Amino acid sequence: MSINSKSSTSISRLKNILIIGSGGRENSLAWIIQKNEEIKKIYLIPGNAGSERINKCERINIDINNKNELIKKLNFLKIDLTIIGPEIPLARGLADFLREKNFKVFGPNKDGAKLEYSKSWAKEFMEEANIPTAKFWKVNSIEEAKIIINSSSIPLVVKADGLASGKGVFIPNSKEECFRAAESIFNGKFGKSGNVVVLEEKIKGPEVSVFALCDGKKYVLLPTAQDHKRLNEQDKGPNTGGMGAYSPAPLLTEDYLDKIIKEIIEPTISELKKKNIDYRGVIYFGLMITKSGPKVIEYNCRFGDPECQTIMPLMDHNFVNLLEKCAMGNLSGNEKINTFDKVSGCVIATSKGYPHEYKTGFPIVIGKIDSSDFQIFDSGTSLSNNGELLTDGGRVLSIVCQDKDFDMVFEKAYKNLKEINFDGIYFRKDIGHQVRRKYSKEN
Ligand code: AMP
Ligand code: GLY
Repeated sequence: MSINSKSSTSISRLKNILIIGSGGRENSLAWIIQKNEEIKKIYLIPGNAGSERINKCERINIDINNKNELIKKLNFLKIDLTIIGPEIPLARGLADFLREKNFKVFGPNKDGAKLEYSKSWAKEFMEEANIPTAKFWKVNSIEEAKIIINSSSIPLVVKADGLASGKGVFIPNSKEECFRAAESIFNGKFGKSGNVVVLEEKIKGPEVSVFALCDGKKYVLLPTAQDHKRLNEQDKGPNTGGMGAYSPAPLLTEDYLDKIIKEIIEPTISELKKKNIDYRGVIYFGLMITKSGPKVIEYNCRFGDPECQTIMPLMDHNFVNLLEKCAMGNLSGNEKINTFDKVSGCVIATSKGYPHEYKTGFPIVIGKIDSSDFQIFDSGTSLSNNGELLTDGGRVLSIVCQDKDFDMVFEKAYKNLKEINFDGIYFRKDIGHQVRRKYSKEN
């Protein structure tokens, strides 16, 4: 499959791209975008130490909250398209602001970002559109929470309503733990994000991530992916931002994906339209495949990390044109996504202690690696004064490979990981266990 030639031709000549964000996700977007020969320059605000290893990329050190300076810079650099990576600037209305100033933006306005920044709003949205999701109760005080928890006959999950860097979800094992979790949120653990709490029915099943690029009316789906949220092997330990991923997810057959499209994706886009939300960006559907069918666990208004790093190497050089079409409201909806008939996998190398306290500033040593269909996207790195690459985050490196099958993908990823080192390096050895035939023999 390839992006069909008619729809892949640029609408206008894209030369200079700006990407906002500082993680592996943004570096992987820059990496696929630089492959388009029309693109002259990609700027990242702020990017990280890995960004300038990517062809055509340059980091810019300005504060995106300083709106005047930002606009001056965009004009000076003649930016043709801005891609906003993380949820916080989207939730604060950066896309609205840039659009008001007539810049082309990939990323929803604040009204669309609400799908992610208010879990209770997203649940009400799903209820109104009859989109399958876990039952929920929105509560405004610990007293209200207590009544629901005490009277509930089903296990509950407790969530802070607002953004909490992926830490606002508790999966308690008892009513007492449930109550404590709600109490900690109302007591300010996540500041204003915890003014409202969502109590949810605990549902079961494998999780899968589906990404729809939207232009406000139409959409195109990217290859599906599965993330590994827990810190330790066998999906044990605390939740993290994501320890690794693979794509596509064979769990979703074509028929099952059709069901998801009919029951979840299209109703979501129709409901956005119904609410006059002109959503131009990616909708990340975090789904759980339960016995009674697919259910939405959460929506995000951005690409998943590390799913993005995993999926981007499966895209072709026209990917940036799709983003531009979304920004312009010009998708035909029939664009085909090129996957090169390969599969992709990503393993995240983290700092010791992540997702809790960790130290940074350790030198990263990269030995002899097999570089064919292999990428290292820096997630959290910096450079020392003498140019040495240092750890600078909980998630440090995204190690990504493509090959004909998942056994080959992960064999190469783990072989290369033996050549990568820093003090306290930690990674899961079972990423992709669901799709690796050899996994049980190796371990
Ligand atoms: P979220 O930040 O909403 O994606 O939640 C983080 C993780 O918590 C999800 O990836 C699930 O593993 C788990 N989770 C969230 N909501 C539920 C639920 N209603 N039932 C079971 N697990 C859940
Ligand atoms: N991979 C999970 C996330 O980006 O939220």
